[in-house]
Amino acid sequence: MKDTDGGLVGAAVGAGAAGLPAAAQAPVTAGAAGAAVDLAGSRALVTGGAGTIGSHVVDRLLDAGCSSVVVLDNFVRGRRANLAAALPSGRVQIVEGDIGDRGLLAELTAGTDLVFHLAAIRITQCAEEPRLANEVLVDGTFNVLEAAAAAGVRKVIASSSASIYGLAEQFPTDERHHPYNNDTFYGAAKAFNEAMLRSFRSMYGLDYVALRYFNVYGPRMDIHGLYTEVLIRWMERIVAGQPPLILGDGTQTMDFVHVADIARANVLAAAADVTDEVFNVACGVETSLNELAKTLLEVMGSDLPVEYGPPRAVNGVTRRLADTARAAAGLGFVAEIGLREGLADLVQWWRAEQPAAVAPGPGAPAAAGQATSLVAVAAERAAAAAKSASGAVSEAVAS
Ligand SMILES: NC(=O)c1ccc[n+]([C@@H]2O[C@H](COP(=O)([O-])OP(=O)(O)OC[C@H]3O[C@@H](n4cnc5c(N)ncnc54)[C@H](O)[C@@H]3O)[C@@H](O)[C@H]2O)c1
Repeated sequence: MKDTDGGLVGAAVGAGAAGLPAAAQAPVTAGAAGAAVDLAGSRALVTGGAGTIGSHVVDRLLDAGCSSVVVLDNFVRGRRANLAAALPSGRVQIVEGDIGDRGLLAELTAGTDLVFHLAAIRITQCAEEPRLANEVLVDGTFNVLEAAAAAGVRKVIASSSASIYGLAEQFPTDERHHPYNNDTFYGAAKAFNEAMLRSFRSMYGLDYVALRYFNVYGPRMDIHGLYTEVLIRWMERIVAGQPPLILGDGTQTMDFVHVADIARANVLAAAADVTDEVFNVACGVETSLNELAKTLLEVMGSDLPVEYGPPRAVNGVTRRLADTARAAAGLGFVAEIGLREGLADLVQWWRAEQPAAVAPGPGAPAAAGQATSLVAVAAERAAAAAKSASGAVSEAVAS
């Protein structure tokens, strides 16, 4: 796809609201019906569609009968392999490009019914590179919404985060909880994204649903990059015969939700006759790091103990538990995959991803050579994490 920066969107929206299509300028009627989009035969754009969650959304959109799904991803983290199951459908087009490219967004939103906006960088990288975070999460999201409004896209489904709450004051935490305890740039950007969505609906009638994901895990989690997560490192250690390492006492809690459930919530949000709303997307189950490690050990057939290290003062979010009633009532979404089943799915996928030499079967002890190579991998990743301002545990807790 050629770079057409400064093209349609620049011309139409840069000129002000007068440049927007009439439909986009129509006054918004509170509670107006008609926000349901029939996915069968619809055309979707998925930003960040080669990433962990985005690629699962693509799979679900194909299942739901979308006639065309365009993936826009700059591949800073995404992988083409994540779309291996989707590509043979012939209905998926991958565009390697950036949400900073307004001309490209104008091209890709033209004639599009639905935009699923997932492109973002990780919370840890946001802390290390706030200017980049501003460019991607704030300016990039503005570009996506501007293009969607100009093109008359019917609905945007945006990926928000539980990070907007920071350490909540009430548990379970519902959507009316204030965002003022968040002190991360990532959470600030996600909160602003939600406010931006509201303002675009008010200004241009652009329908949207924002989904606040809690702690997402499952197949296609990044196992290659610097910003891998604690579950991946634990699996590496367990297979290498090392106990999973918890930094701190392991009592901090999270609300884990499997990536397939997240993808299903995205599709439900598009199909529901709901707009101008945010929803928690979680299991509504509080799990401590200690319970997580023990469950992972059981699922992997290991009798290793848990190892504890000194806590890292990188994240003050010690507790997460979502109130999921609003998503159940508004979207008909209830998480279906429990932690044990979900971890078994993650482990199965992760084993299949490993080179044959480092992937023993469930419960099988690692051979000496395998252990050595995995210890090396684990050590390399631990060193990378130590360089990082905030580590793997904070990523799992706070993203
Ligand atoms: N994983 C979680 O626990 C979690 C929790 C809450 C919210 N979220 C949000 O869900 C969304 C998806 O997260 P994920 O876990 O799949 O992350 P991911 O890193 O796997 O996916 C993000 C994708 O966006 C792409 N990308 C990044 N910058 C881009 C840019 N400038 N232009 C185009 N593409 C770009 C990356 O290459 C990647 O494929 C994100 O918005 C994230 O903030 C994730």
